[in-house]
Formats: sequence, C-alpha cells, structure tokens
Amino acid sequence: MCGIVGCILKTNKAAPVLLDCVQRLEYRGYDSVGIATCSSSGIRIKKDRGKIDEVSQKLQLDELPGEMGIGHVRWATHGLPTQENAHPHTDCEGKIAVVHNGILENYKELKDRLEREGHHFTSQTDTEVIAHLIEKYHKQGLSLEEAMNQTIDKLHGSYAFAVISSDEPNKIMGVRKESPLILGLGDGEYFLASDAPAILQHTRKIIYLADHETFIMDDEGVTVKDRDGKVVDKKIENIKWTPEMAQKGGYDHFMLKEIHEQPKAVKNTLFEVSEIEKIVSKFPEFKRITFVACGTSYHASMVGKYLFEGLLGLPTDVMLASEFEFAADALDPESLVIFISQSGETADTLKALKIANKKAETLAIVNVLGSTATREADHVIFTRAGPEIGVAATKTYISQLTCIYLLVACMGRKKWLLEQLQNIPDCMEEVLSYEDEIRKMADKYKDSNDFFFIGRGFSYPTAMEGALKLKEITYIHGEGYAAGELKHGPLALIDDEVPVVAVVPPGKSHDRTLSNVEEVNARGARVIALGASDDDVLNFEAHDMIKFPPEISELLSPLIYVVPLQLLSYHISVARGIDPDKPKNLAKCVTVE
Ligand code: G6P
Repeated sequence: MCGIVGCILKTNKAAPVLLDCVQRLEYRGYDSVGIATCSSSGIRIKKDRGKIDEVSQKLQLDELPGEMGIGHVRWATHGLPTQENAHPHTDCEGKIAVVHNGILENYKELKDRLEREGHHFTSQTDTEVIAHLIEKYHKQGLSLEEAMNQTIDKLHGSYAFAVISSDEPNKIMGVRKESPLILGLGDGEYFLASDAPAILQHTRKIIYLADHETFIMDDEGVTVKDRDGKVVDKKIENIKWTPEMAQKGGYDHFMLKEIHEQPKAVKNTLFEVSEIEKIVSKFPEFKRITFVACGTSYHASMVGKYLFEGLLGLPTDVMLASEFEFAADALDPESLVIFISQSGETADTLKALKIANKKAETLAIVNVLGSTATREADHVIFTRAGPEIGVAATKTYISQLTCIYLLVACMGRKKWLLEQLQNIPDCMEEVLSYEDEIRKMADKYKDSNDFFFIGRGFSYPTAMEGALKLKEITYIHGEGYAAGELKHGPLALIDDEVPVVAVVPPGKSHDRTLSNVEEVNARGARVIALGASDDDVLNFEAHDMIKFPPEISELLSPLIYVVPLQLLSYHISVARGIDPDKPKNLAKCVTVE
C-alpha cells in the first residue's frame, strides 16, 4: 500500500529527511514517489513515477527548500502509475498539498461536483478531491483546520492523510481512519509516518493515532483531537525497535537478512510464553477455534489447524479473511477466533475482526505494536520478529508459527512441546548453513516456468508457503498442493519441464507422500525432496535433496522445512535479476479490500 511521511524540523533540511523516510517505507509501494515542502516561497513539489532511487536521481528530490514537508510512496489503486497521479496532490492554486494512503469510495461523485463548481483536476486519483475540498471550504472563510474537518465529513472510505498549506506554512494537519498513521516526537522536531521504520532514525517516541483522530503539528508540538474536536491526551510509547533493525546490516537484501534473523526471531518470540500463559488463564472453555488471515499469515493459520485438532482435539476452521464475511453467520459464540497478521493493518483481516468481535471472543497475533488489530481484538499476542521490510514475509511467518505452537502448548499444558520448541533456533541455524547448496540448486532450476510444491498434513502449509514465496519474488508460477490431491487433476500438468518440490519429513504422512513422489517421478518430473538426512529411499527417488536433522519430527517440521524454500526462492529471484525486496505489483501491507 502507499506510505506517507511528514516532518517539521529545526533546520532547512526537510527534503533530504523526507527522502530518507520514504526510502525506508519503500516496502509499502514503489510505483511512484513525491515530496512537497513549504517555505516562505510557498509549496514546492517534486514527484514522478518509478522507484525512489531512479526518481531521486532524475529530480534531486532532496533539493527542495524548507523546514517542513510531506512525502509519499505510491502503490497505485486509482489511476495508472504516472507523474500526474503521483502524490502530493494540490488544489487549483497549488496552495494546499496532500499525501494520502487509503481509498476514497465516493471520490467520483465528489470530483464531479467539484468540477461542476469550477475546480480543475490534474490527476485520475481519488486523493486529489481532498485538496480541492479543503480549498473550497477554506475559501468560504473556514480556517484550514475547520476546512479539513468539513472535508473529512464528506469522505467515505479509508484514509490516512497529511496536508500542508502555504497559508499556514508552519503546520502539518491530518487524520487517520482505517489506514495506519503514527506521529513521532523528536527533540523540538516532529514527524508522521504510515509505519515506525520510516522515522526510527529520528525518534522512538511514538503516538499511535486511533480511527477518526486528527492531528495538527507545528514547531511547538503536536495536538491530537477526537472526532468531536476534543483534545485527546495521547500516550507516548517508547518503541524498542532500533534504526539498525530496519537496515540491511551488510546483507544484499532485507529478505536475506530477515531469513537469517529467524533463529533470533524464534528465541525472542519464545520469551512471550509468560504473556501467553496470562492470556490463556483468562480464557473460558472454547468449543471451536477459527483462524482468519491472508497470504503468508493464512499458511501459519493452516499449521494452527493441525496443532489445535491434533493436540487439543478442538475442531478448527481456517478462513481467508476476504471470505470470512460470507461464512460468519454460522460462527459459534463459544469459539475463539484467532486473527494472524504481521502488520495488524490488512484491510480484509480488520474487516473480519470487526464482524467476529460481535459474535465471539477474538485474539490477534500481530507483529506491529500499536496497529489497528491490537486495539480491536479482545486479546493480543505479539510476535517478536522485529521490523520486517522485505515484502515477502519470512521471519514474521516463523514467529507467527512459534506463537501458535506456544498457544497450543499453554492451552493444552503440554510441557514437552515447550521443551522441544527450545531446540528450534539451533536446528534453524544448521539449516541456514545449507545456503550454498541451495544457491546452486536455484541456478539449476531458475529457468523453469512452473513448479509444484507438495506435502501432506503439517507439510501441506509448508508446500503452500514455498509456492507463495516462489510466485511473489521470482514471478515463476508455483502451485502448492496437498500431495494426495495431485492425482485428481494436476498430474496432467507434470512432465520433465516441471520441478516438483516434495516436503517429506519423517512421520505419519511420510510413506504416502513418498508414493506421490514416485508417481511424479514416473511422469518424468524432476523432484526436489525435503526430508531427513537418513531417508535413503527418498534420496534415491529425488533428483536433488535438501537434508534435515532426522530428529525434526513432522509436528515441528513447519518451523524448519520452510527455511530452505525461502532461500530457494530468494536465490532464484536474484539469479533472474529481480529485486526480491520489491516484487512487482505487491505491497507489504494491503490496506484495501
Ligand atoms: C500482503 C503481503 C503478504 C502478507 C499478506 C498478509 O499480501 O504481501 O506478505 O502475507 O499481505 O499481511 P498481514 O500483515 O496481515 O500478515
């Protein structure tokens, strides 16, 4: 999704600071970028389509005068990625500039009316109506703040926006509704951003805005008001994330760094056990569990189903958040509905959470402190993965899984499971040491057009996640399939051009998945098998094999077996000349339905 930033500084350096902030938010969108600053000479804007580095080199985005300004990275929703559609957008006279993240559902009717009233639009975006509406009300004699409030009353949809105006060149105003927005308090300097990593290098003192709260910042401070215009005394949170955590730290890409941070992410998340015990002690007796999530978080939820049903005997559903409303009528009031989300801001997940809150007890497992899901759910567990910048989720998936295992261990009083989880970080380190071997494999398979990933039971979500990583960052078609389903259709697609990645840890599913490996082998497929190092039969059947310590049981395998699949996709992506941190058309945090 789009990312917005803003700052008021003590020096004339707003533009380079804004450029740095948007660069740190590039994981939210990279179709276009723009910066507006305000000084005694009025508002100056530079913007264009393209990745930030390209645009910055072309336009020198950091060379604009002024102590304050706003910036934007775009993930196009309304209007193609073009120079005209890049933010900031302005009113007719260029006196008001706006950056916006979200979607205005009624922008067409607002735009039509404004055009009839004589306003001239220069873009196809929904955002531009905000600038023109503020202009309209301001010209009617309202102050800028009043004009913004009138404008907010007219908007339907989701928005976090920030506004500057040459009429009050020392102020930034804005609002949040259903799109993330935080404020940062520096030493006499003030910041705003869609997400904390953008401003961590300037301050770790953060105010999380709630829906419908507006803010005004100037060089004296920040005022937050509720929707009735009353000043709100906001809590200032000191966040623990450091600026270094949101940097590449010597790795070529954030994704590779984040893959290697997974043992630490598991260790840190394991420390959450006492918090989880506290939450569990408040639980009533649940009759059913329903997981709701999107993307990678959905795959973590699938593992949850096998754990809750297998170890606790609790019937468990797993639902895609975007499908939840169509089945929520049958939600059992004695259910615990568990929402898994890295960002805590995914629109589909938040919508489902609102529906579930009316019908059952809700728990959110989230990585981002202060995010919307953490405020809406009845209970919250934090994954302790630290900031994740690569668009494709890796360490946050592993932390989500760790949380789910901990939750099951606490709810079922399974001490043995807690003990076994302690070994995961070391096992993971061992698997990460196979990276060279996996890089060679990536070179061998990088030109394939289609892949299948197969697994049964606990390995089915691993196969799904392996396929998703491949699609996201290599643009190769990858399909995750329950191994037993292969013969009911997809086998028709298998030939010697199609590599099949088979996830075959030792355990209940082993022998049957092995027969599926034999089936695809008989159709000429090249099999990349993931299994125990002492599994000689699998080794014999496979063209290539990634070998794991035999002591990793099927039950714990989702935490370990996915790691080489992340590395495989990463190295195929690099070998194909793609930037794995910024895959085309995708965004890390999807705040539209
Ligand atoms: C986007 C991201 C995925 C992520 C999904 C769910 O599609 O690109 O990596 O898995 O959203 O995000 P969430 O923040 O709710 O886990």
